[in-house]
Amino acid sequence: MQFLLLCALGLALCGPSVGQNLSVNPNWREPSTSRSLAQRIAISQDAINLMMQQLDASNGQFANIGYWQAGNVWSVMAIQDELTSTQANKAAVVNNLDLVFGLFSNYDQFGCGNVPFIFNDDALWWATAAMYGSKAYNSTQLLSNAIATWTSVSRFQITQAEAQSGSHPLKSFPIEATCDGVTMAGGVFWRPTSEDTSVNSITTGLFMTLSAYLAEQTKDPKYTDAAVQSANWIKAHNLNTNSIVLDTVSAADCSRSPSTWIFTYNSGKFIEGLSVLANITADNQWNNLMLSVIASAVENTAWQGSNGIVTEGSDNSQNNDGIGFKAVYIRGLREAFRRTPHNAQLRTLLRGYINVQYNALLELAANGSFYSAGWAGPQPSKFTSWGQLAALDVLTAAVEVN
Ligand SMILES: *[C@@H]1O[C@H](CO)[C@@H](O)[C@H](O)[C@H]1NC(C)=O
Ligand SMILES: *[C@@H]1O[C@H](CO)[C@@H](O)[C@H](O)[C@H]1NC(C)=O
Ligand SMILES: *[C@@H]1O[C@H](CO)[C@@H](O)[C@H](O)[C@H]1NC(C)=O
Ligand SMILES: *[C@@H]1O[C@H](CO)[C@@H](O)[C@H](O)[C@H]1NC(C)=O
Repeated sequence: MQFLLLCALGLALCGPSVGQNLSVNPNWREPSTSRSLAQRIAISQDAINLMMQQLDASNGQFANIGYWQAGNVWSVMAIQDELTSTQANKAAVVNNLDLVFGLFSNYDQFGCGNVPFIFNDDALWWATAAMYGSKAYNSTQLLSNAIATWTSVSRFQITQAEAQSGSHPLKSFPIEATCDGVTMAGGVFWRPTSEDTSVNSITTGLFMTLSAYLAEQTKDPKYTDAAVQSANWIKAHNLNTNSIVLDTVSAADCSRSPSTWIFTYNSGKFIEGLSVLANITADNQWNNLMLSVIASAVENTAWQGSNGIVTEGSDNSQNNDGIGFKAVYIRGLREAFRRTPHNAQLRTLLRGYINVQYNALLELAANGSFYSAGWAGPQPSKFTSWGQLAALDVLTAAVEVN
């Protein structure tokens, strides 16, 4: 505990061999699969094809899930093509990500009637989808959509100078220079609206991760700097003593979200960003931090049963954000797998954990090619867009990690 706390604070103790426990938990249900690559690809593509029946071609959205969740459908479709080296989903992904960029400037969804509905994380979910698309299809158009959105949101990443001056040009209230003695620089405001004070882990983690991908793609050091700043903010402000990522800090008064706000996607997005940042900088501190978060996350009883099956957002009766969270979490673990061919023990752990979710979906929670929002089952009696969304990342991740 003490040691992890010191690590979380980034003190010098965290050398290269931190010694996180990366063993596969013997209580986990079925950490392996015997399905062939061709079978796994067919299973995930079939699930994508069923989801596509929910598409509203006029606006790039899917029936019965929200804007941010729809962005995540395009993400997983691009990833499926990238890792199978196919273009089965290319036309749909490229055309719809471009369509939505045209409808909403910088992927910022303005207004829903008269209600302002503006979130930096929403813009970043879609920019991230464009980033995956640009990687999958070498699309300069999608890359430029991602960069334009990054540039717009980057105004909301607190700079060192803004923190020191106690004000932000786009916010109507004084901001704290530090919280708990650590600079607020690097944090990203959740909403662009001038009165909203929240700086949260998902917006900062999305920005960090997109920055790391852009650094990799463009080699422009401004993206690496932005990623490092955001990684430092989460590390310093928003990890609990167990290395699980917490939710929100107010820039106005340093008040915090309850410590019980433990959501998979905060840790999952941070893991994804750290895996890319460690990979492009070869700075081992990010790798070590990633290992600590992973080791803790895969054992976190706040969101899974003792059999290892993730239970967050398991409601088949209506959509909720938590259903989308766990998909983002599994995606982050998949990226960590991709970036660490040198760490066999970690890869065995990630493969085992992802297979637990995969086997649960296929054996306990499937009805043909559609899936329950509850991965531990029972089988769904009818299709839901949110259950399908959540399943897609697991099905694709299982293609890659086995
Ligand atoms: C490491 O984790 C495994 C699996 O959860 C557990 O069985 C084992 O006791 C742990 N080892 C230590 C040293 O904590
Ligand atoms: C990707 O696109 C760029 C610019 O359009 C081109 O120069 C490059 O050769 C392409 N790379 C691949 C792998 O197709
Ligand atoms: C970066 O990731 C690639 C796999 O995607 C891997 O081959 C390479 O060793 C990694 N480099 C570092 C420094 O982690
Ligand atoms: C599977 O879905 C069909 C509708 O597509 C439904 O009629 C059937 O009852 C479902 N099976 C289970 C086990 O719920």
